[in-house]
Amino acid sequence: MASSMIEIIKQRYSVRSYDKKPIEPSKRDQIVEFLRSNTTGPLGCKVRFELVEIAENQKDQLKELGTYGMIKGASVFIAGAVTKGPRAMEDFGYCMERNILKATGLELGTCWLGGSLKRSAFAARINLAADELIPAVTPLGYVVSKRPVRDSIIRFAVGSNGRKPFSTLFFDQTTDRPLTGNPDDPVIRALECVRLAPSASNKQPWRIVKDVDNHSYHFYIKLDPMYNKFFKEIKIQFVDMGIAMCHFELALKDQVISGEWKDAKPSIDAGGFKYVISFTIKK
Ligand SMILES: Cc1cc2nc3c(=O)[nH]c(=O)nc-3n(C[C@H](O)[C@H](O)[C@H](O)COP(=O)(O)O)c2cc1C
Repeated sequence: MASSMIEIIKQRYSVRSYDKKPIEPSKRDQIVEFLRSNTTGPLGCKVRFELVEIAENQKDQLKELGTYGMIKGASVFIAGAVTKGPRAMEDFGYCMERNILKATGLELGTCWLGGSLKRSAFAARINLAADELIPAVTPLGYVVSKRPVRDSIIRFAVGSNGRKPFSTLFFDQTTDRPLTGNPDDPVIRALECVRLAPSASNKQPWRIVKDVDNHSYHFYIKLDPMYNKFFKEIKIQFVDMGIAMCHFELALKDQVISGEWKDAKPSIDAGGFKYVISFTIKK
């Protein structure tokens, strides 16, 4: 079992085929307890998460959830809702990724689903309120012992196995200057953890610029306008940003470094990237 959050981040990957074995009660209890405690994002939005469990004798209900073609064998899901408002997508991404990393630490598989699901079916099961949204869900369960060919084909089609080079994602003061540093430096390690983050269609829209002050990191997004038109209120690439924020902060925390998120409005010319938020490390 992984011993640190950085190890857990390195272990996580999208699992699309699940073993039929039920989740053992002690692990289920730990997940439920974690979901109950995960109620507010770092930017202040309210979230709530529930397990959606399909009983053995109700397997026909699985088809209603709309995940069937993409996900095989799972009968448990973590579904979540965020209260509508500014920053809702980032906060949902951050909090749901915490659930996913908790599950990975318990050796359970997960897969972010923002497209391959029927939102109305999950909405009915978690009693979605009018002021809430379900940006994504994840299946939860044991990983089949040998990766099926269909999973490898999906991974290839989505391009899941690669990540963009470090030098094209992270910058020093300006977006013309790639950030360099010792791989053992805690911040460089945390940025490597951002690089490993899951993102919708593996688009990796996060760009981070280190400030001249040496302890502030400004998060920008490279938006794909077509991509964000799919769903009216759900801006999936801002969910990706929340996931990146989660990996950065948890990887730093693993190395006993803390800080805070704030809208720092940096005066950096970031070309076509849109500013989202900054993390300032406590000195
Ligand atoms: C917000 C979000 C939405 C996603 N939606 C889907 C989806 O609908 N169907 C799917 O099969 N994978 C989905 N994924 C998984 C990505 O394809 C996957 O994270 C990416 O290809 C990287 O692969 P990895 O998670 O194995 O590292 C989603 C990921 C994120 C972060």
